Amino acid sequence: MGQRVFVLGATGTIGQATVRALLRRGHEVVCLVRPRAGVKGTLTPAHSARLFAGAAVRFGDVTDPASLAREGFRGERFDALVSCLASRTGAPEDAWAVDHRAHVLALDAARQAGVTQVVLLSAICVQKPLLAFQQAKLAFEGVLVESGLTYSIVRPTAFFKSLSGQVERVKRGQPFLVFGDGTLTACKPIGDDDLADFLATCLDERDRHNRVLPIGGPGQAITPRQQGEQLFALLGRPPRFKQVPVALLDAVIGVLGTGGRLLPALAAKAELARIGRYYATESMLVLDPVTGRYDAEATPSTGTMTLFDFYRGMLSGAIAPERGDHAVF
Ligand SMILES: NC(=O)c1ccc[n+]([C@@H]2O[C@H](COP(=O)([O-])OP(=O)(O)OC[C@H]3O[C@@H](n4cnc5c(N)ncnc54)[C@H](OP(=O)(O)O)[C@@H]3O)[C@@H](O)[C@H]2O)c1
Repeated sequence: MGQRVFVLGATGTIGQATVRALLRRGHEVVCLVRPRAGVKGTLTPAHSARLFAGAAVRFGDVTDPASLAREGFRGERFDALVSCLASRTGAPEDAWAVDHRAHVLALDAARQAGVTQVVLLSAICVQKPLLAFQQAKLAFEGVLVESGLTYSIVRPTAFFKSLSGQVERVKRGQPFLVFGDGTLTACKPIGDDDLADFLATCLDERDRHNRVLPIGGPGQAITPRQQGEQLFALLGRPPRFKQVPVALLDAVIGVLGTGGRLLPALAAKAELARIGRYYATESMLVLDPVTGRYDAEATPSTGTMTLFDFYRGMLSGAIAPERGDHAVF
């Protein structure tokens, strides 16, 4: 039976795929989006309405409790809240405002609207929370777990868009950049639609209720070096790598961090560099709390699309990911 689902973060990469997945499953979907949404605010209300044909689109501000009630829930009843909402920058202030505070407000408003179930898109990296945005996400996960509502907290591994930043430069003939020798980390990349299906089915699948669910895509875990090798193979060229020492990132963080004590703009860049260092050195796989090691075998898989299918689509021009503020990675 279709449910009445309130969706946050619908205009993001996974949000768009999740709205499609919910509609495919016969749910009634209401999205609350910003009047200027999408990467760099390029989606107008007319664009958003077209994008979500089959769903109701409401325009408001999820960070404002009055707007959530007036433009969002409108005193109506809903069965479930599905959130793909997340700070677009990962900068500390924005992360706490969006990944934590806005979610707390939305949870409160949802409960008042009769919602009994919440599906939250989180991230696998919160298992080792060294960055502000991870701490903000984890803090809201805790609020949700304590809420008494049925929850599914989905912690995916890396998205294709975040692993495709070098396709264009390699196509132009430049080498593939890796930190260290390119084998410091590994992940099981997951496709947007595969993740969206997983999120949407959390509504019905009881074994996904009241659980934290790490999830990756199909196949073996792959390192950045394997990503590069496969990209060159798809282009029919011999692999060419340029190795970047992690110490370089440490130096950049040091300089920007010092400057950031005086200039907020430098502090923001320092946080971006810290985020970059995190992904250069930490795997997006389940972390074994006993050994402190990342465990590919313990990381569940779902879906069918691989990163290399995605690369193939990009090289043929069939796929053009919107990389937005994460383009730096
Ligand atoms: N990238 C990866 O590899 C990866 C891996 C695992 C987990 N994740 C996690 O997955 C989540 C979603 O990723 P994504 O790539 O789908 O995100 P995204 O494309 O950046 O979308 C973020 C969504 O949140 C909304 N949003 C952000 N700030 C807002 C604000 N102040 N008010 C209202 N709406 C706001 C955006 O709306 P607008 O369109 O209006 O900006 C958009 O709908 C994130 O939590 C990320 O940490 C990412």
